Amino acid sequence: MINHEPTPSYIADQNRYKQMEYPRCGLSGLKLPKISLGLWQNFGEVDAQSNATLIIQKAFDLGINHFDLANNYGPPYGAAETTFGQVFKRNFKQYRDELIVSSKAGYDMWAGPFGIGGSRKYLISSCDQSLKRTGLEYFDIFYHHCPDPDTPLEETMTALDHLVRSGKALYVGISNYRPADCLKAIKILKQLGTPLLIHQPRYNMFDRWIEDGLTDILLDEGVGSMVFSPLAQGLLTDKYLDGIPANSRAARNEIVHFNANQITSEKLSKVKQLNTLALKRGQTLAQMAIAWNLNNKAVTSCLVGASNAAQVEVSVDALQQQNFTSEELQIIENILSV
Ligand SMILES: NC(=O)c1ccc[n+]([C@@H]2O[C@H](COP(=O)([O-])OP(=O)(O)OC[C@H]3O[C@@H](n4cnc5c(N)ncnc54)[C@H](OP(=O)(O)O)[C@@H]3O)[C@@H](O)[C@H]2O)c1
Repeated sequence: MINHEPTPSYIADQNRYKQMEYPRCGLSGLKLPKISLGLWQNFGEVDAQSNATLIIQKAFDLGINHFDLANNYGPPYGAAETTFGQVFKRNFKQYRDELIVSSKAGYDMWAGPFGIGGSRKYLISSCDQSLKRTGLEYFDIFYHHCPDPDTPLEETMTALDHLVRSGKALYVGISNYRPADCLKAIKILKQLGTPLLIHQPRYNMFDRWIEDGLTDILLDEGVGSMVFSPLAQGLLTDKYLDGIPANSRAARNEIVHFNANQITSEKLSKVKQLNTLALKRGQTLAQMAIAWNLNNKAVTSCLVGASNAAQVEVSVDALQQQNFTSEELQIIENILSV
């Protein structure tokens, strides 16, 4: 048969599965990479697609076979899914069965009452839109992005179950749910026959809310976790130690969720001390921050972001030095508790 598709210019590194580790996600049969890549920032219309392509290719070459999206990642909303779809079509179609691609709906996406929340109407139509933008036939994981107090949890969970039964998603997840609602969601989904695969909460040295009840539930119930912003959006790296570099996330006006006001002198003082410890351990602060997250046994995977391919390499190299002595862990506690 004549193949009319152009030969893809990208061939994945044949050693891609050698360095990465793939723990089971909770008690499921799905194994996820210890480091996953999120496309929240740096994959919008304002970003160079050549750079976006290099980031995704580098990640896959290093064994990161999980890419995390959401309907509203951009800017503008939807753009990260479109970018991913274009890169996928050009370079990754042949690797579809090696990939775990996730998307989400929950936060505001389009005008009117059906473009936000947790209703069946919103989740199913948004998933359909996300599939169109990415060009995928299904998502490996589809998440409800954030709890919606105005929608009965049963309705939201039944919509997730429906997405699996209709072949639009293989697994389901929830994100940003607090412990009590998480437990309720687990019970409802179990009854529906579509077990909750994963929870996606924020977790880093500066934001440890999950340690207060959520991680116990996830471990008890056999649910995995994909923890986001492990570098606190770049703060837990050495990048802001001498000021705010141009083009850093804190310097970019279109990024509304992180700015110079969040880089306080109190935080910077902790970052400096953590950086000293990281260097003593023979790694960068970014790497120590990732290793520290992975040290929590409820964590399946660290969901990092990157603005260039070199950052992806740095993050994956965190796996070279994951262990902490009890003394090092105590030093970290002392630094964070001041
Ligand atoms: N479920 C949710 O509600 C939710 C919310 C937020 C995020 N997420 C997910 O989590 C993913 C990751 O979030 P995040 O981007 O905030 O993660 P993060 O890993 O904490 O921050 C990533 C940013 O840190 C900087 N960075 C990365 N490596 C670096 C290094 N080696 N040295 C210096 N700076 C470095 C880069 O910013 P610069 O631009 O400054 O280089 C990069 O874009 C998102 O893409 C998304 O998939 C989910």
